[in-house]
Amino acid sequence: MDLTPAWYDAIAVRASQRRYEPTAVADDIVARLRAFCEADRPSSSARLTIIEGATDRLFIGVLGKFAGSYGRVEGAPLVAAFVGRDGHEGEVGYLGEAFILEATTLGLGTCWIAGTFDKERAGDLVELRAGERVMALTPVGTPVERRGAGERLLRRVLKVPHRLPLETIAPGIGGPTGGKTAAATGGDAQWPAWARTAVEAARLAPSGVNRQPWRFRLAGPGLVLTRAEKLYWTAPFDLGIAQLHVELGAAHEGVSGIWEPLVEPDVAHFVPA
Ligand SMILES: Cc1cc2nc3c(=O)[nH]c(=O)nc-3n(C[C@H](O)[C@H](O)[C@H](O)COP(=O)(O)O)c2cc1C
Repeated sequence: MDLTPAWYDAIAVRASQRRYEPTAVADDIVARLRAFCEADRPSSSARLTIIEGATDRLFIGVLGKFAGSYGRVEGAPLVAAFVGRDGHEGEVGYLGEAFILEATTLGLGTCWIAGTFDKERAGDLVELRAGERVMALTPVGTPVERRGAGERLLRRVLKVPHRLPLETIAPGIGGPTGGKTAAATGGDAQWPAWARTAVEAARLAPSGVNRQPWRFRLAGPGLVLTRAEKLYWTAPFDLGIAQLHVELGAAHEGVSGIWEPLVEPDVAHFVPA
């Protein structure tokens, strides 16, 4: 996919937003998002679409459809659906995150929702092709300034915005260098700047219940994305999201590359071109 450099800056700004102002998203912005969804892309296994029509009652609370509104997305003026075929969750993660970062660069709030939505209702609102399902949604709009009590509690439970230490997700990478060499901070001097920036960008990615299943190691001239031992069911999406963040981090350092798929438990090898 063609990367937009502004997406790299959006990584640090993005945070899940679950409560929105009722004001509609401006027509020209909706048109831009719609064009982004409809752009020609090679894969037929993952796609984006804006949901038309009434989107109220699409979102449910974290305790399910009949257990109240706790943790539910409220007031979203616009909703996008991330559609895909089973087995292609990584592609949906990658493409969905591109949409999330594009919306972020347009000044909008978003939130990956793969669990707490009414799948049947979402399926009714999207024209699905054979083999497709709505895998996730995101609300899009202007977030209310102060998060609601339910969302604040949810973020405490999920330990957001906490992220695992860099050393945990990339053993040997060392702490932030702060001008010192990586070796002086206990890190491995072999970690090139592009790989460090790529891992730092992945570390800030969203993940289901903030589980952060991505792990990294250097291999030859490239970077291997592998997975944590214990996985939450959203991991296939989370790992696809991390792949986009790696590309954006590397591109920020002037490095582009390609992903070569690997066998489990590894995911893929990012090899600089
Ligand atoms: C694939 C995926 C699925 C998610 N599904 C849900 C969901 O069903 N409901 C929800 O409230 N949040 C959901 N989230 C949001 C995460 O809880 C959130 O990204 C994580 O706690 C980190 O917080 P942050 O996005 O503010 O950095 C999901 C995130 C991802 C990446």
